[in-house]
Amino acid sequence: MDPYPHYAALRGLGPAVYLSEYDIYGLFRYEHVRPALVDWERFSSAEGIAMNPTTNEAMEGSLLGMDPPRQREVRTVFTDALRPKYVRKVADGLEQLAGQLVDDLVQRGEFDGVTDFARTLPVGIVLDLIGFPRDEQREEILDWALGAFNYMGPYSDHQASSLPDVQALAQYLTTKATPEKLLPDSFGQIVWEAVGRGDITENEALMTMSAYACAGVDTTIAGISSTLWLLARNPDEWAKVRQDPTTVPGAFLEGLRMEAPIQSFTRVTTCNVDLDGVTIPAGSRVVLSYGSANRDERHYPDPDRFRVSRNPSDSVAFGFGVHNCPGRVLATMEAHALFNALASRVEKIDLAGEPVRAPNNIIRGLERLPIRVT
Ligand code: HEM
Repeated sequence: MDPYPHYAALRGLGPAVYLSEYDIYGLFRYEHVRPALVDWERFSSAEGIAMNPTTNEAMEGSLLGMDPPRQREVRTVFTDALRPKYVRKVADGLEQLAGQLVDDLVQRGEFDGVTDFARTLPVGIVLDLIGFPRDEQREEILDWALGAFNYMGPYSDHQASSLPDVQALAQYLTTKATPEKLLPDSFGQIVWEAVGRGDITENEALMTMSAYACAGVDTTIAGISSTLWLLARNPDEWAKVRQDPTTVPGAFLEGLRMEAPIQSFTRVTTCNVDLDGVTIPAGSRVVLSYGSANRDERHYPDPDRFRVSRNPSDSVAFGFGVHNCPGRVLATMEAHALFNALASRVEKIDLAGEPVRAPNNIIRGLERLPIRVT
């Protein structure tokens, strides 16, 4: 359950490591992961970014599984919707909602850091922005999306157990997330308008909606709850945030560095790639470990220590290069609203019990996080 000692061992082995059990190469050092994310011509996403062929075939038409120039064209649909000027429209609402939420949690004293704290804004705000109908199936989307991430791992019983989630999500997207059912003025409508103009195909639109559902919500919840967990375990760091709330952005960046919500995706090499004397043959699948790169002692001194003043704006938690996360502004705004609200109202954050992890092949997050605040 703690991948970090394993990553440290893998980083120590060399610039690239061949993982024979999965017939896959892995890059674990920051100095190799970040440049590989930029180098899409040699580290291609076009054959998918999951660790098994079934998922990669199913993801065909997804922005995540494309290279430029097509990737740039399809991505425009996303960036149109996620441009800061649109996203900022929800900013005031976010602050108010976060304030009300934290007032309520402070009154309760004890609460769950995942379901009561981290989930509320992504579920209330992001699912509305995407435009999914406001019905009882909304909460289920989160579980299906987590399952879809888990299904991206190497073949195993655990990976295969998520097939029903993948099927449920696909069924939902084709029957419920249709243009006539999506909320008006939502990202979803922008996606389907792009189909109407002939900018993207219907399949690309469906895959884009799937990317919204998967990439947009569970990642944010994981990032916010992991940061809360780190703040609870590091009271001195919370005291710094309380004293100087301008450190809130740094605290969230540091939380994402320490516990990258997306731990890894893969690429395929288009030619032989030489990395400091190790050759990765053309056509190899290569894991790029964001989680390990962010903890690389060669890049971040004392990497396992949570320090709100570190301000690691160069971490790869949001990826880097052509596929860098277009939802970054939105996720960051939600987190800032929540931690600012906490900083002005809460003196002490304590763990009120043992956190429970949700094992997942891609997402590092928590299922339960018992918290007490004063
Ligand atoms: C803390 C929250 C988030 C984290 C840690 C995160 C992380 C990432 C990472 C690592 C990538 C790079 C994928 C790659 O290298 O292939 C990515 C891409 C992406 N993210 Fe996020 N993300 C977050 C929030 C969001 C949100 C809120 C949205 C949308 C509402 C979103 C939508 C996307 C999309 C569509 C892509 C694919 C971009 C492309 O392939 O060009 N993400 N994200």
